[in-house]
Amino acid sequence: MRTILISGANRGIGYSIAKRALKDGHRISLGVRDPKMMIGTELEPKKGSNEQILISRYDANQPESAKIWINNTISKFKKFDTIINCAGIFKKTPFLFDSHEEKDINDLWETNVKGPWYLIKEAWNELIRSDNSRVIVLVSMSGIRSKGNLAGYSVSKFALMGLCQTIRNQGWNKGLRVTAICPSWVNTQMASEVNIIRKEEMSQPEDIASITSLLLQLPNSSVPFEIKVNCNLEK
Ligand SMILES: NC(=O)c1ccc[n+]([C@@H]2O[C@H](COP(=O)([O-])OP(=O)(O)OC[C@H]3O[C@@H](n4cnc5c(N)ncnc54)[C@H](OP(=O)(O)O)[C@@H]3O)[C@@H](O)[C@H]2O)c1
Repeated sequence: MRTILISGANRGIGYSIAKRALKDGHRISLGVRDPKMMIGTELEPKKGSNEQILISRYDANQPESAKIWINNTISKFKKFDTIINCAGIFKKTPFLFDSHEEKDINDLWETNVKGPWYLIKEAWNELIRSDNSRVIVLVSMSGIRSKGNLAGYSVSKFALMGLCQTIRNQGWNKGLRVTAICPSWVNTQMASEVNIIRKEEMSQPEDIASITSLLLQLPNSSVPFEIKVNCNLEK
């Protein structure tokens, strides 16, 4: 059984991963911008599941909230050994952006790169106390290749991939294993405006949760670093 911090767990891929992790018997600590959003969901701590779930406020743009989330997790569960970073934003910022879009570039950098960087850095000492820790990051195929003209998003995800590689190098001898999950389109709110492929043909958030479920069972000697999840043919 692992104790897992999951960011962006109130909806989309993070929500599916959290539900699956709970079903698999793990203890989950969910970092969400608005904890009230968890009320009435399957992940609301209730009698019976209260021992297994913690909800903490976390905003990827506020490093202080990462510290508080980590401290809350240690207070409740005494330790943790896994982080799954799902929090992220998508913007269509092109290479030839207009001046009013410059803020989007900064927002992408703050949320998609600095958010996980600060969170995992803050969690580092606790992670490496275990000789079997895991960091799983929702990157994207946009962090491996650039199709089309999504410069702002793609640059942020390439940078996130660089971060994942560095964390892997830093943690390897301490038993920490990193996986960058790189889907194409996943049927969540983030992909709601995509019309080049039908929603049912996209990867589903539950499928990504099946991947993380398997990853969490694998021993240190067999954890893949990069998983490309293709719902369409990559040329
Ligand atoms: N959907 C896709 O096609 C796709 C493909 C490849 C990779 N990904 C990546 O997968 C991850 C999850 O995406 P998704 O599809 O589940 O998207 P989603 O449904 O839009 O969910 C995004 C999640 O990130 C959270 N978030 C956004 N900004 C945040 C911040 N500043 N602090 C904390 N949480 C924040 C959101 O919380 P709020 O509800 O508070 O906004 C929400 O929980 C993202 O990193 C995304 O880039 C998605």
